Amino acid sequence: MRILVAYASKHQSTAEIARAIGQTLEQFSNVSANVKEIDQLDYITGYDAVVLGSAVYEGNWRLSAANFLTLHAQELAQIPVWLFSSGPLGEGKTREIAQGWEFPAGLRVIAAQIKPHDIAIFRGKLDIGELNMFELAAAKKMDATPGDYREWEKIIQWAAQIGQALCEEGDRSLKKPNSTT
Ligand SMILES: Cc1cc2nc3c(=O)[nH]c(=O)nc-3n(C[C@H](O)[C@H](O)[C@H](O)COP(=O)(O)O)c2cc1C
Repeated sequence: MRILVAYASKHQSTAEIARAIGQTLEQFSNVSANVKEIDQLDYITGYDAVVLGSAVYEGNWRLSAANFLTLHAQELAQIPVWLFSSGPLGEGKTREIAQGWEFPAGLRVIAAQIKPHDIAIFRGKLDIGELNMFELAAAKKMDATPGDYREWEKIIQWAAQIGQALCEEGDRSLKKPNSTT
């Protein structure tokens, strides 16, 4: 089974999450994971499933990820898909830090068409030294707390659930959630 793990990242912390997901998936027999930056992808033909994730900036996915999801919605609707966002900063429960934010509002209609198996949100990382002056101003305005808050155990557990789901399908054809055919 060929799985694409596609990501959009500005400061590489989401790239590292995508790589951890890919490495976890690779541990399942019959699963081969390709981890790719979305900018380097033109098509998704030949993949049996897709995991797609983006860093969150000012309440949105990176443009490349949002465009990719929109452009490939029809193809993605045919295969199993898992989506994730990485962003909230600080200690505590991710959803509480995110203050109810779960997924970009503007992409919900597309996601509903694609019917992903799951939409996850992971805490992110902020290194002030890596920011340009505009990002720095925006980060200050939103009172962002610098630090690496990524929860590797949670990320790996999520990826393992994906691997498990793919293996359970075995050589049966992979189905979308609620698929009746
Ligand atoms: C300018 C700026 C805006 C951000 N906006 C949000 C936001 O709206 N929601 C959120 O959860 N995280 C936000 N973050 C945190 C980032 O999503 C987090 O640092 C993430 O891990 C960055 O991923 P990357 O290293 O892959 O680019 C913001 C960070 C910066 C610097």
